[in-house]
Amino acid sequence: MPPKPVLALARVLPDAVEARAARDYNARPAPVDHPPLGGDALVAQAAGADGLLVAPGNAVTAAVIAALPDTVRVIATFSVGFDHIDLAAARARGIVVTNTPDVLTDATADIAMLCLLGAARRAAEGEALMRAGAWTGWAPTQMMGTQVTGKRLGIIGMGRIGRAVAKRARAFDMALHYHDRAPLPPEQAQGAVHHETIEDLLPHSDFLSLHCPATPETTGLMNAERLALLPRGAILVNTARGPVVDDAALIAALKSGHLAATGLDVFTGEPNAHPDYKALPNTFLLPHLGSATVETREAMGFRALDNLDAVLLRNEAPRDKVA
Ligand code: DGY
Repeated sequence: MPPKPVLALARVLPDAVEARAARDYNARPAPVDHPPLGGDALVAQAAGADGLLVAPGNAVTAAVIAALPDTVRVIATFSVGFDHIDLAAARARGIVVTNTPDVLTDATADIAMLCLLGAARRAAEGEALMRAGAWTGWAPTQMMGTQVTGKRLGIIGMGRIGRAVAKRARAFDMALHYHDRAPLPPEQAQGAVHHETIEDLLPHSDFLSLHCPATPETTGLMNAERLALLPRGAILVNTARGPVVDDAALIAALKSGHLAATGLDVFTGEPNAHPDYKALPNTFLLPHLGSATVETREAMGFRALDNLDAVLLRNEAPRDKVA
């Protein structure tokens, strides 16, 4: 039997995932989870490793990739997003990079709906009132929010997660509008109206949900000019990546009343968030919980290991190669 390949883990993973890694590899557990390994510590963790299993929080920069030992053939991320990895640097060193699409689609779409409903129905304010023991009783004008039924939902990015959100929104009798590079085939669009540009989409969006990756092109995508194109009283939901939204512009729109509310699961500079979000009453905030169910997190780990197995155990192309 040849020796098992060495797999360096850069985050603490669900028990079942760590157990499978230990079964099939000479697995090196992450020494710490917080703060996530980065820089020299990440390079040191990879010493002599054949594969590296990272996750959001591990900054796999060009400098880290340049310093990785020659033994590393593959970096698998425990996430669908790979904005924490410098793909060009990995390509330049011939290191394969993989992600975990599909398996977190439903969990993330559920969180988008939670953010949408939480923002529309003022759930954070209601919860805070109950926990403070400050509720004085039902009142006809108390804490009135925004009706969801029959409203228009605009979706930017109609990939797997965007379509799963659309499916859920149909059950709320929402009318679907979307922007993506090209219209979807009718069986996928299911009546959702395609808009050629984001600017065309926004005036048709009583609610707007973001499902595009974080790239240099999408940084600050929802800026002041675009927010101004939303109907007054619109609600913005972001479960994609924080930098897609210009925080200062969103906060200004929430303060002016142009936007009624926002539901956010992701933030620029995580785990920090712009302090005004916490101070404003019309925000519903979650700590990047999109994929955080036991089932999904295990599935993400197994998918990452499937990719590693392809490269390191079978010398095959992995299913989810992104570089
Ligand atoms: C991802 O997979 O990119 C998510 O943001 C983590 O849940």
